[in-house]
Amino acid sequence: MGEPVIPIVNSRHKGLAAPAPLESLPAAGSLRDLRGRPLRDLRISITDRCNFRCTYCMPKEVFGSSYQYLPHAELLSFEEITRLARLFAALGVHKLRLTGGEPLLRKNVEQLIEQLAGVRTLEGEPLDITLTTNGALLARKAKALKAAGLSRVTVSLDGLDDEVFQRMNDVGFPVGEVLAGIEAARAAGLAPIKVNMVVKRGTNEHEILPMARHFRGTGIALRFIEFMDVGATNRWRMEQVLPSSEVLKLLQAEFPLVPLAHTAAGETAERWGYAGADGAHDPQLGEIGLISSVTRAFCGDCNRARLSTEGQVYLCLFAGQGYDLRALLRGGASDEQITGAIAAIWAGRSDRYSELRASLPPDDQAGGARRVEMSFIGG
Ligand code: GTP
Ligand code: 5AD
Ligand code: SF4
Ligand code: SF4
Repeated sequence: MGEPVIPIVNSRHKGLAAPAPLESLPAAGSLRDLRGRPLRDLRISITDRCNFRCTYCMPKEVFGSSYQYLPHAELLSFEEITRLARLFAALGVHKLRLTGGEPLLRKNVEQLIEQLAGVRTLEGEPLDITLTTNGALLARKAKALKAAGLSRVTVSLDGLDDEVFQRMNDVGFPVGEVLAGIEAARAAGLAPIKVNMVVKRGTNEHEILPMARHFRGTGIALRFIEFMDVGATNRWRMEQVLPSSEVLKLLQAEFPLVPLAHTAAGETAERWGYAGADGAHDPQLGEIGLISSVTRAFCGDCNRARLSTEGQVYLCLFAGQGYDLRALLRGGASDEQITGAIAAIWAGRSDRYSELRASLPPDDQAGGARRVEMSFIGG
């Protein structure tokens, strides 16, 4: 049997019209979705482009030279993004994560960060502003990002072996440059730094231990992510998922690890600390994280909303459609109208894809054809 045909992506669905604003907003900070979950975390995709072609995210066969990226006018402007961030913060958002594609490819991203640094939470505090990057441009940009007001960074790195890493990024990008980017981030004070490693069985599982050895004791938290069935193009198959329980077993055979408490509600990662000679967690040795969206869903307290590059709000990483906020922004809606619409969107949310995955028909699991690509809404 031949390879399955990959659908030509048309994940850039027309957004749903935003619903009518809630008549009266819930008291400050008390907005909840249909499952009682608050809105705390806003992930903002600021470009649909990337200089990598990770096979699990932007496979070359689909994102090739003829692929049509969004024209600039379709992207939200920095002013539009900052206005929305302010309105989301007024509804309880505390954390902003800039994503892409690769967010450092957006021209003048430092200026956007400067604008976002002026936004305040309901309590009047600055937001936690972070960014997920592949690290390629980090060595060049770390200092300016810090100066602009970025709090910290998360860097994606899928292995230490060049051959393995280059097979995954599919553009021949060397490990050494990502490590140099991480070093620059550390020197600039963009801490705590996290490193995300997507684990694919049969591709990079033999990189788990070398990665753990490398980052242990550096103050950098390494997180292992189960390969997920996001989007409709990455040919996901359950056999390629290495369950976090197996990752943990591998690690425990070499390092004593102790479970750590959650630091925040709705956290994606299960944390484990390296133990010292006394068997207790040794903070000097640091910690690892396991992100198990496939084998251990964490939808129960998912407090994340995602804003796509062209201004649609998605309620789940696996959603097929988003709500068009750009139409409101560009149609002259007032702050009150937009805030009311966001509140209505969140109030109607019931998404919990990862919890339902196992009970869905296989076609819906492996890239339901209408599912949005991760490069439009970020991780
Ligand atoms: P921190 O505040 O730094 O801990 O951020 P985070 O835990 O939200 O982590 P990050 O954004 O680095 O997410 C890590 C990875 O987890 C992402 O790249 C995704 O692969 C996955 N992930 C993040 N959020 C979700 C989510 O809401 N659902 C699912 N299924 N996976 C997610
Ligand atoms: N499965 C798991 N994680 C993914 N990412 C992108 N695609 C996938 C996938 N299919 C995450 C990675 C990467 C971030 C940008 O998005 O963590 O580091
Ligand atoms: Fe680019 Fe990140 Fe997707 Fe890789 S995972 S293609 S680096 S956006
Ligand atoms: Fe949240 Fe959807 Fe991820 Fe569940 S699958 S944690 S609801 S984004």
